[in-house]
Amino acid sequence: MARRDDTTSHDDDRIGQAVFDAEIARRLARYLRPHRRLVLVAALATLLLACAQGLSPYLLGLAVDRGIVGRDGTLLWWLGGSVLGLELLAFGLAFAQLWLLQWLGQHIMVALRAELMDKLAAQSLSFFQRQPVGRLVTRVTNDVGAIAELFSTGLVTVVGDLLAIAIAVGFLLWLDLRLALLTFAVLPVIVAATWILKGRIRTAFRAVRRRLARLNALLAETIGGMRVVQALSAELPVFDRFAERNDEHLHAALGAVHHNALYASSVTALTGLAVGVLLGYGGERVLAAELQVGVLVAVVTYAQRLYLPIRDIAEKYTLFQSAMAGAERVFGVLDAPIEVRDPPTPRALPEPPRGEIEFDHVSFRYPPRGRPERGTEQGSERARRVYAIEDVSFRVAPGERIGIVGHTGAGKSTLIHLLARSYDVTAGAVRVDGIDVRELPQRALRRRIGVVYQDVFIFSGTVLDNIRMGTASIDRAAAERAARAVGAHPWIEALPQGYDTPLPERGATLSVGQKQLLSFARALAHDPPILVLDEATASIDPETEAALQRAIERLTAGRSSIVIAHRLATLRHVDRILVLHEGRLVEEGGWDELLERRGRFYTLHRLHGRG
Ligand SMILES: Nc1ncnc2c1ncn2[C@@H]1O[C@H](COP(=O)(O)OP(=O)(O)OP(=O)(O)O)[C@@H](O)[C@H]1O
Ligand SMILES: [Mg+2]
Repeated sequence: MARRDDTTSHDDDRIGQAVFDAEIARRLARYLRPHRRLVLVAALATLLLACAQGLSPYLLGLAVDRGIVGRDGTLLWWLGGSVLGLELLAFGLAFAQLWLLQWLGQHIMVALRAELMDKLAAQSLSFFQRQPVGRLVTRVTNDVGAIAELFSTGLVTVVGDLLAIAIAVGFLLWLDLRLALLTFAVLPVIVAATWILKGRIRTAFRAVRRRLARLNALLAETIGGMRVVQALSAELPVFDRFAERNDEHLHAALGAVHHNALYASSVTALTGLAVGVLLGYGGERVLAAELQVGVLVAVVTYAQRLYLPIRDIAEKYTLFQSAMAGAERVFGVLDAPIEVRDPPTPRALPEPPRGEIEFDHVSFRYPPRGRPERGTEQGSERARRVYAIEDVSFRVAPGERIGIVGHTGAGKSTLIHLLARSYDVTAGAVRVDGIDVRELPQRALRRRIGVVYQDVFIFSGTVLDNIRMGTASIDRAAAERAARAVGAHPWIEALPQGYDTPLPERGATLSVGQKQLLSFARALAHDPPILVLDEATASIDPETEAALQRAIERLTAGRSSIVIAHRLATLRHVDRILVLHEGRLVEEGGWDELLERRGRFYTLHRLHGRG
């Protein structure tokens, strides 16, 4: 399968030129399998519809000739009734066909979205690091939508269009050969116009989509970072860029509109031309009594009905193309390798949990940006520091409290990622309760380790929701207990609706310290045997700091824990401190012991000037 390199960020969301890929088509067809019967019924309705609609011009002609010209009132009524009946039937069939196919499209869309979400949920951190959020959202919405549209309006109805063309051609030839040939004479012009203009329209729409994607990406980024943009008065350049992309999109859209308008009016004009010629020539022959007037009426109607399905088929070709391109990209996401996987035969963690951690000669390097499986390392590797973690070994005994310090970028958070198995180590092993984390089911591992990440994430929902995080065993009382323990209860109570106060996306209405305390309450409520705190408390007032300090004491009491801190005072009471420097463990020991050693910890301590 031709997979596009989705990682080149400068030309994202290119709309594929490839038209047909048997592999993709086969895979798409698989989504139809569960709905085989429905597809069959819809196809049947479509065929019947084409027949019903194909028959009525003929009956119309008969009504004119035999009924009106032949002055047969009864027959006229019968034929009129038949046409009415056929149209009613067509109404029912069209309704059924539309309904069934939309149902099909919607259900396939739901299935695809669910499949994508499952895949995304199973992906490792490194995947999201390579894929911009905006692009993934596009996969789950636009691309899936394009595929669904193929199923709901594209696939089955083409059969109906083809049949409609065949019926019209058949009747035309049978009714009058010369008029038929005259009708067909216009066909090449229409087909040519369709071919040329539709090609241009496709290209234009591709440009529109591409520019829309660029516009969206910039929009998402700007709105997400609006605070920074405004604070830096970066508004002008950003808005200039926005205006530029907005303009680009306008031009692309107008280009598409231009071709589309040209096409629609050409087909109308050509159809009108054909009808005019048919009327003129056919009318002459009617006057010369060579042709019955009803035949002329039928021919003109068929001619008009002939050109419509041709246009529809061209439209469906476009639909087909964008669905193929969408499918290619969706399958690209579905096929992306999952780097961190559960082992085939996972081992069970010992019960009750001991809370033991061991880093055994662990080295780790972040995967290079770009697709790892292709191995296209571009340019020379910046040789400075390849490994984020290099040969780190330490043990945390059950119930022990460990502190980790080090300059920014030293690799502290990376250690946590490895412990929670967000990434797999490059060398060495990380063990929890004596078992290599790669041999454990990820869920079990993560249930055992509670991590409070540096960048606290608050979800939209109530305060209570944010503490419970969907864990059924944490009831209101338990959540409140946890909040009390970390000192978050007073301000939560002071919120307009207390624990039921809805929080906006990312907890935008809370202060940094409050978010931190809330995340502590979340961790405590889940009561994990191992607790990891990645400090984000560098910027709070002394009072909140004291509150956090107490909270950390509470959280870590009697629990194996790792506390990462910039603020050295936080670590005053831990059992042991590890000093990390450029990915290496350079010092280890108690607070006083490390200070006496006058090494790196001592320097850090002096730099902070407090603690
Ligand atoms: N996702 C990533 N991809 C590639 N490199 C990364 C990634 N995350 C971190 N790094 C690099 O790995 C090194 C260690 O980063 P890490 O986040 O562990 O530092 P830290 O000690 O937690 O710093 P801080 O105190 O600022 O939080 C840094 O050099 C950083 O640039
Ligand atoms: Mg960090």
